[in-house]
Amino acid sequence: RPRVLSGIQPTADSFHFGNYLGALRQWVDLQRDHSPFFFIADLHAITVEQDPRQLRERTLRAAAQLLAMGIDPQRSAIFIQSQVPAHAQAAWVMNCLTGFGEARRMTQFKDKSAKGGEGAASVGLFTYPILQAADILLYRPHYVPVGEDQRQHLELTRDLAQRFNSRYKKTFRLPEPYILKATAKIGDLQNPTAKMSKSASSPQGIIEMLDDPKVSAKKIRSAVTDSGSEIRFDAEDKPGVSNLLTIYSSLTATSIADLEEQYAGKGYGDLKKDLADVVVEFVTPFRDRTLELLDDQAHLTTVLEQGRQQAQEVAQATLDDVYRRVGFVASA
Ligand code: TYM
Repeated sequence: RPRVLSGIQPTADSFHFGNYLGALRQWVDLQRDHSPFFFIADLHAITVEQDPRQLRERTLRAAAQLLAMGIDPQRSAIFIQSQVPAHAQAAWVMNCLTGFGEARRMTQFKDKSAKGGEGAASVGLFTYPILQAADILLYRPHYVPVGEDQRQHLELTRDLAQRFNSRYKKTFRLPEPYILKATAKIGDLQNPTAKMSKSASSPQGIIEMLDDPKVSAKKIRSAVTDSGSEIRFDAEDKPGVSNLLTIYSSLTATSIADLEEQYAGKGYGDLKKDLADVVVEFVTPFRDRTLELLDDQAHLTTVLEQGRQQAQEVAQATLDDVYRRVGFVASA
């Protein structure tokens, strides 16, 4: 079975539809015929300041949400990044392999540090993609299911893998990004040419999976649409309608062409009303299930401990190879 690895940051009380349609749904699907490792990236979360109590709570909420959406601990190892020390240890080696200029070209750092200025950003935020490369390479995965915004980090990961392999000895597999074109970038409901984002979107622009379903329905109904009245997929001229069609299509497994046909002659209001119903139907059981799982902390802890052990075994074995090849003396 090909191996798969991916992670998500616990930086909000809820995942949003960009996370779900862009990445998490692929996590669930890939379980069927792959061997997956999925983790909650709490080391990445602290690259910007976090409240400790909130971080702890959000990490467990993230785990509950992953289980609620169908990640099956019988098929996938699900774990917390900070509980597997090899991630931080391998990241140091990768740091030493990365050029300063190379790190500087990462666009996410430029975006995220733009507000307060580069001087206010942490060094952790600067080296964030290098830790991500370590996360990935330790598990030697074939595929990394993510949204479009992670593509550059995957390219860096491949570059570093190749560099390590050629400088020392073939150690890492060059992982392929697994990015579904249709849902690679879910748009902000209020600003559909920008991605839906927990840090950049206004609350009105983002549908949170754990929001009160009534609130989510209302957000869909007040989504920005475009001039004209025809319901047609056209990312250039109709980004708002196209984004709604994308969400609709992927939640109902209906093709965009079928939706266009179904809505021929109807108005934007009809589309939004129906999509609001689809969303409510989807999030209601998800939310109930998540809350149920959060009530059973013992179960959650067991699942995460089992995942930690599986991850630890694989990651430590790779780290041992890395340390030996770099020239570190093994302890007696
Ligand atoms: P994070 O936590 O920001 O997001 C989790 C996943 O959601 C995807 N995503 C989107 N996809 C489509 N449309 C959107 N609007 C949208 N918003 C978010 C992201 O692409 C991501 O796949 N750096 C990672 C976490 C990470 C990681 C890793 C991922 C750490 N180590 C190793 C893969 C492998 C991140 O910030 O994801």
